[in-house]
Amino acid sequence: MLREETIRVTPEEMAAQRQFAKEFEALTDRPRTYHIVTYGCQMNAHDSEKLAGMLEDMGLSPAPSREEADFVLHNTCCIRDNAERKALGNVTWLKEIKKERPEMLIGVCGCMVQEPGMAEKILRQYPFVDVAFGTGNIYQLPELLYRAASTRRRTVAVPEEQSTLIEGLPIRRESDFQAYVTIMYGCNNFCSYCIVPYVRGRERSRTPDDILREVECLQKQGVQEIMLLGQNVNSYGNDVPGGLTFPQLLRKVSETGIPRIRFMTSHPKDLSDELIREMAENPVLCRHLHLPVQSGSNRILQAMNRRYTRESYLEKVEKIRKAAPDVGLTTDIIVAFPGETDQDFEDTMDLARMVCYDSAFTFIYSPRTGTRAADMPGRIDPALATERIERLIALQEEMTQKRFAEMIGQTASVLVTGASKRSENQITGKTSRNISVNFEGNAGLVGKIVPVKITAASKTTLKGRIETP
Ligand code: SAH
Ligand code: SF4
Ligand code: F3S
Repeated sequence: MLREETIRVTPEEMAAQRQFAKEFEALTDRPRTYHIVTYGCQMNAHDSEKLAGMLEDMGLSPAPSREEADFVLHNTCCIRDNAERKALGNVTWLKEIKKERPEMLIGVCGCMVQEPGMAEKILRQYPFVDVAFGTGNIYQLPELLYRAASTRRRTVAVPEEQSTLIEGLPIRRESDFQAYVTIMYGCNNFCSYCIVPYVRGRERSRTPDDILREVECLQKQGVQEIMLLGQNVNSYGNDVPGGLTFPQLLRKVSETGIPRIRFMTSHPKDLSDELIREMAENPVLCRHLHLPVQSGSNRILQAMNRRYTRESYLEKVEKIRKAAPDVGLTTDIIVAFPGETDQDFEDTMDLARMVCYDSAFTFIYSPRTGTRAADMPGRIDPALATERIERLIALQEEMTQKRFAEMIGQTASVLVTGASKRSENQITGKTSRNISVNFEGNAGLVGKIVPVKITAASKTTLKGRIETP
């Protein structure tokens, strides 16, 4: 049973959309090719795979570039101000192309569109945008595009309620051997700096049956690695009374025979002993845990509404290290949160040194309208913020080198993901611990898991030699 607020898109509505897709395809004067520009996180990347799936069902084929496409869709992100400016800048850039090719249709979707007031702003300030829709109604793309193409009038659909649960969308996956599988949408945490709960709605979990059916299908197609997606996978199932917990779901998913499972993201406050045990015991789970800490200062963690302390975080790290010492930890850190003192920042540096992460994503705090932190006093001077982030990055580089040095001499199982960008005859892949390794080999190995002896480390990647099994 789903919570009342969750709107499950009915099969009838999905059938109505398929009808729109057919009618669109039958139009004589309609876009034939598409190009999707994607910003933001894995959620958005996966949404783009669904958007591409729908567009191909409507008879469109991919265009090699934005300039050549009949329909260009921007799947936007608004997590930080620069993400938003980049997206809007690129939409504006297309305006010039459209002057030369007026038949071109321009679409904007994703998190940014779901921000309060943004739909109105697009209508007012971006008159060359033909289609706009939010995160909760991507399934309506066939209808919106049909209307835009058949009437040559703008169509905008942004529901206030984005808590939809959509099953059965076609997916055009980017890779044959790695796949995203959403296990839950939305977020209930309201970290005080974060816009995600406002633009992605409340938490809603997919049913285990729907998830398992998708994974079984991927396993049969030969997919080697799946990444289970959710803003906080540890609260999977909380909205479904009597359902599975996240670790229980992991166990079931691993029983499908899929070789590798990853997941993102794990909120420290909800990381359970049960999950740690599962990480220790289940060999199908990749040896990597992304555990965003955000800050090492209790005062700042409280202001961020993270609902854990430095001590409880470190305690959990300790438990993981004890139970599963081969698991690599990575994190996200925000510097210059309002009111962050030198001491608060030193606490963050100290924590990063103590944990010694494999890597860290570091961000300067960016105020987001509508979030609680945007109204907090104590904005940090940009020059000081830059100084802090540079110090943190330098420290993390040191820590990464330390971790990499420990790996030299070990043999890692590596999923080959492609040819190395730098030199010929070199291929590249990811260890179970999610670290890139470059080594000599032929491109025929792409999509396979091979044993690689680690021989050296550079700043961000490892080097290795393939071992003959
Ligand atoms: N759900 C995930 C994170 C999603 S956003 C989680 O809770 O871990 C990814 C990262 O962006 C966050 O972990 C945070 O470090 C960063 N971030 C989010 N809002 C931000 C803001 N307003 N300014 C700077 N960084 C932010
Ligand atoms: Fe944002 Fe916090 Fe939710 Fe992550 S858990 S998406 S940081 S509100
Ligand atoms: Fe992801 Fe950006 Fe939205 S990080 S959830 S695409 S705001």
